[in-house]
Order: sequence, then structure tokens, then C-alpha cells
Amino acid sequence: MKHLFQPTRLGDLNLRNSIVMAPLTRSRATPSGVPQPYVTDYYAQRSSAGMIITEGTQPSFAGQGYARTPGIHTPEQIAAWRKITDAVHRGGAKIVLQIMHVGRIAHELNRQIAGPPVAPSAVQPAGEMWTDQKQMQPFPVPRAIETAELPALVEEFVQAGRNAMEAGFDGVELHAANGYLLNQFLASNANQRTDGYGTTLQGRIRLVVEVTKAVAGAIGAGRTGIRISPGHMFNDLVDADPLETHVALLDALPTAEMAYVHVMKPDAFAAALNNAGDPDHVLATMRAHVKGPLIAAGGYTAETAEAALASGLLQAAVFGRPFIANPDLVERLRNGTPLAAPRPELFYTPGPEGYSDYPAAGAA
Ligand SMILES: Cc1cc2nc3c(=O)[nH]c(=O)nc-3n(C[C@H](O)[C@H](O)[C@H](O)COP(=O)(O)O)c2cc1C
Repeated sequence: MKHLFQPTRLGDLNLRNSIVMAPLTRSRATPSGVPQPYVTDYYAQRSSAGMIITEGTQPSFAGQGYARTPGIHTPEQIAAWRKITDAVHRGGAKIVLQIMHVGRIAHELNRQIAGPPVAPSAVQPAGEMWTDQKQMQPFPVPRAIETAELPALVEEFVQAGRNAMEAGFDGVELHAANGYLLNQFLASNANQRTDGYGTTLQGRIRLVVEVTKAVAGAIGAGRTGIRISPGHMFNDLVDADPLETHVALLDALPTAEMAYVHVMKPDAFAAALNNAGDPDHVLATMRAHVKGPLIAAGGYTAETAEAALASGLLQAAVFGRPFIANPDLVERLRNGTPLAAPRPELFYTPGPEGYSDYPAAGAA
């Protein structure tokens, strides 16, 4: 296990080990998007990681779609995040903010503003999402964002990046995976635009490239990462040729200067959700087009993560579900301590239960 516990470098970020906590939406913010006080405990408990990537966080009220997700656009939100970044830094980890604009994956009952959510095109996703008021509800028909609104959309991400710096984060991760707004622009079934931001391959990648370069320009490329999930057909997102799309995207991004590219393996949740073929081939293809650090998530164990680091495929290994019930995951992996199982029924419920009350090994 020599690589897993070695320091690693992701752009400007020096990590004391090569274990990264994945972004995990846990819905523990107030209705106005302020992380609750016990969110600080939760992240601090996990600060033996080399780096923590926060839960998806909206850059604006317009970017919210789920119940009780946090934001990074009001003074109260920034102040709450400042407490979290301070606590995580005291524990020794780096922490980056995942900026998540959900686009069409948004129900009005979960939102603080009226009107339909924006998306590349007015294409309603199949499926339903949770609302606290009426339980499961169908996804809405989104509004196609106007071309003239796109500069302001880019600026939302830039301002979120600046706010993250003000809140003490070490960097940001742009969420271009899992069917949310940036991923919607990339994918052929969600993006039917004819204004130069869709239709062709270069059109579909254009907004993601503009957002990434603008955020990197504002806070530093070495503090800017991006998450992609080629072939992951989550949230009704289907790209006809996900490998071609993501290769073109990576070739257009300044990956040599960026902190990292983060791939979520397409079979992370179910093989049936993957239309990109063999996940190892997907990862190898991405590796060939990333000029800087590559990190990845999706079912890693100590052994498979160690192998991916040892071969040079990855510069850090990302663990999601294992971190939920194992705040001391790093120590458990080091000692070979069995992992506790999380309680999925408490993944998105308000309150500390099933969240910041999982004990470290031996502390129960
Ligand atoms: C409860 C839960 C919430 C998640 N929230 C996010 C999120 O906010 N942003 C994101 O990019 N991925 C999210 N994911 C995906 C994880 O980051 C990770 O990629 C996935 O769980 C696969 O890794 P694992 O097998 O180690 O859990 C979430 C997963 C779970 C289980």
C-alpha cells in the first residue's frame, strides 16, 4: 500500500496522502443554502483524507434543484463555509468546492426562485426527484437559456470560484458530470441548440471550455479541477458518442495547467447506466488525453486504488460511499480495519443522524 499513503500533488495542491473524499450531496443546508453547524463536524471528522471535495454546491439560486443543498453565493453561505474550510485545514486535508449548477434537474418546490430551471434546450428529462413537500415529483420542462444569457452564466461560475477563495477553499471542481447543467451542454440528447453552443461536437463542448477557462483565469488553473462522467446515463442524459465528446473536451481544456481531471467511472452505480463500453478502457482513453493529474472514483477498494496509483493511471484515488460511514477511512485502509456500512435511508435526510454520528473505529 505504499502509494495510497504517499503525498501527491494536484496542480497547486499538495496532498499529504493520495486518498480523496468524493463529492457527496447530503442535503444538510438550510432552505437558503447555508450549511448547518453540524456540517462542520462532518467534514472535520473526515479531514485525515489528502483532499476533500465538497458536495455539489450551487453558484446561484438559479443553479439549485435538490432540497437543502448548499450555495456559495450569499455572505451567510460564505461565512459558514469559512468555518468548514478552517476545520478541515486544522485536520490537515485540502478542501475544494464542487460547483454544481443542476440545469434541468430541478423541481420548483426545492428552489428559492420561481419559474422553470434553465437548460441548453427545452427537453424534459424522464424521471422524478424528491421534494420535501410532495415526495417524488416529475422533472419539469426546462427553459432553453438564451444565447445572450450565457456570459452571465459563465460569470456565475467565476463568481462562485472567487467566493470559494474568500471562504478559504484550496480550489474548486467544476461539475460537468452526472447529468447536470455542464454535462447537459455536452450531451447530444439534452443539447439541441443551433447558436454555436450545440449541434456539433465543437458546439457542445464550447460552454464547458469557456466556463473552465474563465474560472481558471480568475482563481488559477492550478486550483481548478473538473469532473466528467463519460457514458454515465444518469438523470436521463444520453450522449450518442461519449468517448468522442470527452476526448474533444479534454483536448480543448488546459489540462496541463489545471489541478486535475476527475473521472467518475461509467459503471459506478450500475453497469446498465453505462453506454461508453469497458470502464477501464474509458479511463485509459481519458488518461491519454489528460496532460496533468487524473483522479477517479467508482467502486475503488484499497487494493484496486493502490494498483491504479502504482501503474501511474491515477495521481489520487477517490472514495465516495466508503467515506459516509467511515470518517476515519484513511486509518481503516492503512490498518485493514473492516469498513462500516452506511445507512442509505439517511443519505439525504436533515439532521446529524446518519451523517456526523458515524464513529471512528474503536470509538463506538
Ligand atoms: C449519497 C451520494 C451523493 C452523491 N453526490 C454527488 C455530488 O454531489 N456530486 C458528484 O459529482 N457526485 C456525487 N455522487 C457520486 C460520488 O461522488 C461517487 O462518484 C460515487 O459514489 C462512486 O464512488 P464510490 O463507489 O466510491 O461511492 C454521490 C454519491 C452518493 C452515494
